[in-house]
Amino acid sequence: MMLHRAALALLLCSAVHIAFAMTDGLLPNGNFEATPKASEMNGTQVLGRYAIPQWEISGFVEYIESGHKQGDMLLVVPEGAYAVRLGNEASIKQKLTVVKGMYYSITFSAARTCAQDERLNVSVTPDSGMLPIQTMYGSVGWDSYAWAFRALFEVVHLVIHNPGVEEDPACGPLIDSVAIKTLYPPRLTRDNLLKNRDFEEGPYVFPNTTWGVLIPPNIEDDHSPLPGWMVESLKAVKYIDSDHFSVPHGKRAVELVAGKESALAQVARTIPGKVYTLTFSVGDAGNGCVGSMVVEAFASRGTVKIPYESKGTGGYKRAVLRFTAAVERTRVVFLSTFYHTKTDGSLCGPVVDDVSLLSVRSPRALRR
Ligand SMILES: *[C@@H]1O[C@H](CO)[C@@H](O)[C@H](O)[C@H]1NC(C)=O
Ligand SMILES: *[C@@H]1O[C@H](CO)[C@@H](O)[C@H](O)[C@H]1NC(C)=O
Ligand SMILES: *[C@@H]1O[C@H](CO)[C@@H](O)[C@H](O)[C@H]1NC(C)=O
Repeated sequence: MMLHRAALALLLCSAVHIAFAMTDGLLPNGNFEATPKASEMNGTQVLGRYAIPQWEISGFVEYIESGHKQGDMLLVVPEGAYAVRLGNEASIKQKLTVVKGMYYSITFSAARTCAQDERLNVSVTPDSGMLPIQTMYGSVGWDSYAWAFRALFEVVHLVIHNPGVEEDPACGPLIDSVAIKTLYPPRLTRDNLLKNRDFEEGPYVFPNTTWGVLIPPNIEDDHSPLPGWMVESLKAVKYIDSDHFSVPHGKRAVELVAGKESALAQVARTIPGKVYTLTFSVGDAGNGCVGSMVVEAFASRGTVKIPYESKGTGGYKRAVLRFTAAVERTRVVFLSTFYHTKTDGSLCGPVVDDVSLLSVRSPRALRR
């Protein structure tokens, strides 16, 4: 009885605990639709530090309405009617209530406005990541980016900072739709040697956007917004969902959008000398990405090139790479041999999904 009561108290405690933490989706005023007071504005410039509800700003921050004209460029906003622009060294900040020890991913949409290479420093102390936004992957000028962190405190501050110093302070990226999602890093199962093999666990995908979410390169794997996986090389991969794209299996998959400049990788524990099979799906996202595609997979000294003819209407095939492990940690890597673009000029590529890595039992064991 005593034990029950203690268990119940613990349960209530954790329920209360979770009730205060953020729910998945847009942050409070994450789409900047709650407007600052006119008295705290000068033209498009936001004057007060706390003028934008729920946010704290610093530096030259502009509040941009959809349809705002900058030179010949008409600025459109992906969600609702408003977005912010971060000028030189400007930042926006929001306090988040989280569960200590848990992993979270942040998804936000950004667009660059001038020709310069632009970068954003996203941070939640003590983690930070520099996200390059110089390459336009989407066709509408906006892309969504994911980043992840592990909460070391119950209350943390998310900061999105433009470290750029441009001559024109009105040059600087636009930001809209900032969302959060709790990540539950998948554990290994007896059936598979890869974590998150089907890419089902990943960052928040905006229900209203049609361009997927970019997983940037150079993030440590324990802080990946795509748990278990790393993006190597220089460029991002795109995380896609079945609501907006054709996906081989489950609800989520990865589109290799940057040719050999982006590679999706995971390190698996293997036994030297043992034979393994890496099985995976290669397909297209049904997004009008047409062409002769090739996905290369590498593991140990094994490599395979899987050709796939994409009509851009969805579909996939299964592929296998059999290899012998040389060491105890084997890196499994996928990349697209070629660059592909859609008719609107945006980058696209083959889709990888439903990956499994299994050891091959010896023929004697099979006979038994
Ligand atoms: C508003 O902007 C104008 C033009 O940039 C500037 O001259 C003026 O000093 C600003 N006013 C305030 C209150 O910052
Ligand atoms: C990004 O911002 C964080 C927090 O302000 C800072 O500690 C870090 O040094 C910055 N990173 C770079 C590369 O400037
Ligand atoms: C999606 O769009 C609807 C209607 O415009 C809006 O109410 C909702 O907040 C949007 N959701 C997200 C997550 O952006």
